[in-house]
Amino acid sequence: MAQKVRKAVFPVAGLGTRFLPATKAIPKEMLTVVDRPVIQYAVEEARAAGIEEFIFVSGRGKTSLIEHFDHSFELTQTLMARGKTKELEDLQRWLPDPGQVVTTRQHLPMGLGHAVLCAKRAVGNEPFAVILPDDLVLSQTPCLKQMVEAWEEVGGALVAVQEVPRHQTRRYGVLNIDHDYGKLISVRGLVEKPAPEVAPSTLSIIGRYILPPEVFGHLETTERGAGGEIQLTDGMVKLIGQTPFHGYRFEGKRYDCGDRFGFLEANLAFGLAREDVAPALRRIVSELFN
Ligand code: G1P
Repeated sequence: MAQKVRKAVFPVAGLGTRFLPATKAIPKEMLTVVDRPVIQYAVEEARAAGIEEFIFVSGRGKTSLIEHFDHSFELTQTLMARGKTKELEDLQRWLPDPGQVVTTRQHLPMGLGHAVLCAKRAVGNEPFAVILPDDLVLSQTPCLKQMVEAWEEVGGALVAVQEVPRHQTRRYGVLNIDHDYGKLISVRGLVEKPAPEVAPSTLSIIGRYILPPEVFGHLETTERGAGGEIQLTDGMVKLIGQTPFHGYRFEGKRYDCGDRFGFLEANLAFGLAREDVAPALRRIVSELFN
């Protein structure tokens, strides 16, 4: 029987320096888009894709993230006593069951590849997803669910990709394309944060991956790369030729919530996509322009 993707890794150890002063005392993943923290979107997306275990690679000052997914006896009791059934049901709907959240720590800020490597023991010998919570995707079908369905056909490694303007390639892992099949792209190589002049294409990785466990062995021997960090991209490159490796053009729009403008845009876009928020938000925005 084909293996199932049951576990997802959430690298959440980053300092969020691009978002100071907001992130001085609170984790960037706890910043709110409309009415829930960024990390909650990521966890809900994973759950919608059939993920059963959520592995947080965390760091210092990130306790509130773990608290957010913990059951709060006092809150439950208070909501019950006050007859707030709707709030209680909402809470139960997204809270993971006891034991579904696993945390590990990245002791040193050595890059995304190193963060994923810190989840090696928790993942074990099975395929797994990686979700970078900064990248929010607004789509009909949750992005990771789309990917799991595609991965069940092709296996190996699958990374979400989108076209970016050439002058932005320095922000992304970029594909060297072997063959473009439309939704799927077979990959010949990958380069982390190339200069526009040397980028092999403009098809860039966004923060959703499905990877085979063999990537851990490769990450263990990966040297520091772009920015002096151990890059996930450099570890993944070594899978090419050993396992099928594809880019996946997902349906939906990605917002970079690690950036203040991307974050503002995400608040508007996610608000406008919600029936309970859109009418008031539309009114507020149009009033601002009058
Ligand atoms: C990371 C990855 C990069 C990827 C990007 C997507 O970069 O290293 O390959 O394209 O996420 O958001 P970061 O944004 O952490 O610099």
